[in-house]
Amino acid sequence: MHPHEVIPGRYPDKAGKRAFISELFNNGARHYDRIGRIGFFGTGHFHRKRALQMAGLQPGMDSLDVACGTGAVTRAIMEIVGEKGRVCGTDPSEGMITEARKNLSAEFEVGHAEDLPFPKSSFDFLSMGYALRHVEDLDATFLEYRRVLRPGGRLLILEISRPTTALGLIAARLYFRDILPALTWLITRSRDARLMMSYYWETIDACVPPDAILKAISGAGFAEVNRRVELGIFSAYTARCPDDSASVKDKSTTADACN
Ligand SMILES: C[S@@+](CC[C@H](N)C(=O)[O-])C[C@H]1O[C@@H](n2cnc3c(N)ncnc32)[C@H](O)[C@@H]1O
Repeated sequence: MHPHEVIPGRYPDKAGKRAFISELFNNGARHYDRIGRIGFFGTGHFHRKRALQMAGLQPGMDSLDVACGTGAVTRAIMEIVGEKGRVCGTDPSEGMITEARKNLSAEFEVGHAEDLPFPKSSFDFLSMGYALRHVEDLDATFLEYRRVLRPGGRLLILEISRPTTALGLIAARLYFRDILPALTWLITRSRDARLMMSYYWETIDACVPPDAILKAISGAGFAEVNRRVELGIFSAYTARCPDDSASVKDKSTTADACN
């Protein structure tokens, strides 16, 4: 299942999405951290770290941050797991990974969520921050997450969801569609950065509803699938890899990893 339909005016068809996104984030990478700090009033680090702790990330765990971008979630992971844990980050954008390497000493690899560059059962914890809308296929992504997680491993996906109340929708549209791209232009004077933030809302608005995401996570064989929502918009999806995940095969041996 695709997380949203084609976004009109951005790319012609589903096949064009990957190239568009790659250019979008490569061109916007050097502005991303500043927009994040100003656009989210400096709350981003606290929010990400608290969500990781609530999802069960603990000192010493081996952890993978998918769609790590410039390392906003990765940084919080490093603070929690400490020196004994392994911290890896992966992202398809070379530009974002370059920024992440300037900031942090974690292991960074270029890679897509749907095809992770890690062997099966490599991690105790997997996170993805504000990027689920960008994958090409939700089912393939969650199967891949299950493949690289160890039995009992934990999953956390942070996302912004389209509000369900009329008032919430008006407020979200006003901020994410109108104010944030304008603010981005003011602070960066970069068309690329403004486009990155315009596309942010366009994909939130078009994304499949949370129930479809929960169903896809369950469909990949995860247990304890849950969604916690704050302010009607900030979603934290959590799940656990079943203890009998020994049956999950590596992609070198089978294409349909689970079951
Ligand atoms: C909005 S940024 C989020 C960065 C960071 N996780 C955070 O919390 O700020 C979205 C990131 O998703 C990445 N991305 C896009 N398509 C992806 C895919 N198919 N698999 C993994 N990451 C992807 C982009 O390159 C970009 O770095």
